[in-house]
Formats: sequence, C-alpha cells, structure tokens
Amino acid sequence: MSSDTLSITDNRTGKSYDVPVTDGTIRAIDLRKIKTSDDDFGLMTYDPAYLNTASCRSAITFIDGDKGILRYRGYPIEQLAEDASFLEVAYLLAEGELPNAAQLAKWIDDIRYHTYVHTNVIKFLEGFRYDAHPMGMLLGTVGAMSTFYPDAKHIDDPANRYIQRIRLMAKLPTLAAFAFRHSRGLPYEFPRNDLGYIANFVNMTFSIGGKHEPNPVLQRALEILLILHADHEQNCSTSAVRSVGSSHVDPFSAVSAGIAALYGPLHGGANEAVLQMLDQIPSRRDVPKFIESVKSGGGRLMGFGHRVYKSYDPRAKLIKRTADEVFAQTGLNPKLEIALELERIALEDDYFVSRRLYPNVDFYSGLIYQAMGYPTDYFTVLFAIGRLPGWLAQWEEMLGDKEQKIARPRQVFTGPDERPYLPLATRG
Ligand code: CMC
Repeated sequence: MSSDTLSITDNRTGKSYDVPVTDGTIRAIDLRKIKTSDDDFGLMTYDPAYLNTASCRSAITFIDGDKGILRYRGYPIEQLAEDASFLEVAYLLAEGELPNAAQLAKWIDDIRYHTYVHTNVIKFLEGFRYDAHPMGMLLGTVGAMSTFYPDAKHIDDPANRYIQRIRLMAKLPTLAAFAFRHSRGLPYEFPRNDLGYIANFVNMTFSIGGKHEPNPVLQRALEILLILHADHEQNCSTSAVRSVGSSHVDPFSAVSAGIAALYGPLHGGANEAVLQMLDQIPSRRDVPKFIESVKSGGGRLMGFGHRVYKSYDPRAKLIKRTADEVFAQTGLNPKLEIALELERIALEDDYFVSRRLYPNVDFYSGLIYQAMGYPTDYFTVLFAIGRLPGWLAQWEEMLGDKEQKIARPRQVFTGPDERPYLPLATRG
C-alpha cells in the first residue's frame, strides 16, 4: 500500500477503505464511497465555517499562522511593505511575478486611463441619506457598475476580464472618495490623472477648493497599509468573491459581495469597532476594568485574535511601526495610550495568552486612519481599496481553475420528517 494514503475502517460495517492523501489533504468526495448500504448517500464531512477545509488550490498568498509568516507570490510581506508600491503589489498578485519597468508603466497607465466614473453615478449617490454608511454606499455603487459595463458578463474572455479588473482598480478609489465627500456634504472631487494612485485618492478625499497640500509621509503610510491588506488567502470576503464569482456573474457583482463581507465587524469592520471600543474606555486607568468585562463575556477585545495567526499577526508589527511614523507627523492620538495599555495587559493575561489572542492588523490601523483625518466609519472603505487586488487575483485564479465549479456546500438536515400540510383552521 502506498504511504500517501489514509486507511479508514468504518466500524458501522467493518469495511476498510484507502483514500489518497495529496498535499496534506484528502478529497471529501473520496469519502462518498463509504456507505452503510447501496442506497446510503455516502459519508460527507461536516465543517461549519470551514475550520479545516481547503476550498481551492491557490498560488497567490502563503500564510503560516503559527510562525507569523505572510508572503504574496513568495515575497515576504515585510519586504513588499518596505520597498514596493501598491500598484506593483497589485500587479504581482494578478500576474504572479513582479513587473519589469515597461510592464509596470503599462499597468499604471491602463489604470490611470480608467479612473473616471460615469456622471450618472453621482445621481444615484445623491439618493443616499446624508448619514449613509460609506461601506453601504460603496457596495451599492460597485454593484451598480455592472449596469454601466454590461460587457463585463463575458467572463470567458481573458481580454475582457483584464479590462474589467483594470476598471475596478481604477474606479474603486473614485467611488470611495465620492462616498467620503457625500458623507461630509462636500462637492465631489474628480480624479487627477497627473497624480499617482495614492496621491490622487488622497486628493479626491481631502482637496478643498481644488487645493490639497500633500504629506509624503502620510501618503506612504497609507500605501503601506493598503499593501498589508492586499491579500490574505481564503478569508471571509475573498471566499465571498470566489463563491459568488463561481456562479459566473460579472466581477463588479462578485466584488460587491466581497465588500459586503468585509463590512462585518468580525472582518474588515473590526478597525471601526476598535475605535468604538476605545471610545468606551475613558482613560488608561479604566483598562483593567474593561479587560475584566471582556473576560466575563461582555464583548470581544476588538482588534485581537485571528482565525489563522496564533502567534502574532506580521501585519500588526509593521503597522505599529507605521503608526510611529504617522504620529511623529500628526502628534499623538490620545487613544493610542489606551490602546497600548490594552495590548500590554492582554498580552500578559492568561485568558488571552491561553487562547493565543494577539493584536491583529486592525488593532492599530484605525488609529492611523483617524490621525490621517478619516472618520471612523470610513476605515473599512480603506481596507476595501487595499483588498481589491487580492479579490481580483483570486477571482481570476478561480475562473482558470479547472477543478472549480459553482460553490454549493452540502448540509446536514436537522428539520422535521415529511408531514402533511395542516389547513389554518385546524392549527392550534
Ligand atoms: N476577545 C476576547 N475573546 C476572544 C477574542 C477577542 N477578540 N477572539 C476570540 N476570543 C475567544 C473566544 O471567545 C473563544 O473563547 P472560548 O474558547 O472560551 O469560547 C476563543 O477565543 C476562540 O475564539 P473563536 O471565535 O473560536 O476564534 P475564531 O478563530 O473563530 O475567530 C476572530 C477569529 C478574528 C473572528 C475573533 O478572534 C474575533 O472576533 N476577534 C475580534 C474581531 C477582530 O478583531 N477581527 C479582525 C480579524 S483580522 C482582519 C480581518 O480578517 O478582517
């Protein structure tokens, strides 16, 4: 018997089966042959929240959660955050290799060419209430983009997919900036194609009367945060993009599903939730009381814990360094002191240590965004701009994967057996 197999004995029948093991996995479908009788459906796996199920093969992002390693296409996140630009990272995720100078220039030009959105977008943005959450506006407008580009449904054509990916990369910052201006009651600022990707976005959000004084340190800090968020393998929003995209819907609709998933407080919404949590803690002295309330079930310590990272989140380390650079420019955020104290106490507390809960990417990113002048409810929008290259690379990879089909999990049915319909008059 080959050693790359798993032998299973079904104690219900006494029969034994050999199942191939490839890349540390068995195929769940191989278990289907394990039956108690001919009319038995066959054995399934039960894995709520996919705690131990690989849903795809992917060559994009590698994470070792125990060692705190994150690599895009083999390149350590630390090196990319130090030296690369966000668009270079986006190219790397999409194409698998770092671009040469000519490839990068073309990529940047292609994206720059598509930054404008149809002016009708402004009309439906105006329909949102003055206090609409910017993530709600973003997911709505990105979904609506499919109506402006009906050709995007031709997902079988690689050239067409390329242009839609470029459109999304180019237009997401514009839509995000429009949502920002809407929340503040400011006139929309149109893209300036003489500026770089980050500088143009910052200009569209903060320019007043056509003027904005750029701060290169803050712009690079924002770029680093976007790089750190650019992909994170099969997280909730990426799985949403893949799952919705597996129905062969257009990429605007699939990405809008990813934005919806990211909106949730357990995922991208955590950076907003961290700031709301810090608002509930009046001072450093109140931190121990707050930690006790978390331990006794009064809520989670937002920005702590991760499904995959169980020693530390390498992104959190890099973000802390970025925070120092930003605060040197903007002055200290009074909430930073509370955050540092929370981190210090939690890292020494057995509740958090025994559950291997460490600060994640969201613990400090919100404080940085706030120092840059972005309001709390806008933080997740910035995360979405960062995550877009990852969603698009994963969408492209999913469509090219011959093993993928429409995502359709099984279930274990726990409801009632067949029973006859009761007329209303006979129901108690
Ligand atoms: N504060 C307090 N307790 C926690 C926390 C937390 N932040 N996270 C997990 N726990 C506890 C949890 O109550 C459970 O305890 P017990 O075993 O006694 O029931 C144990 O730790 C394991 O928790 P889990 O919910 O099974 O862990 P998970 O892997 O399913 O959840 C998580 C991962 C990120 C959803 C969770 O840690 C969490 O809710 N963190 C706070 C929200 C947050 O910061 N999210 C951002 C994640 S990173 C960026 C991103 O992905 O978007």
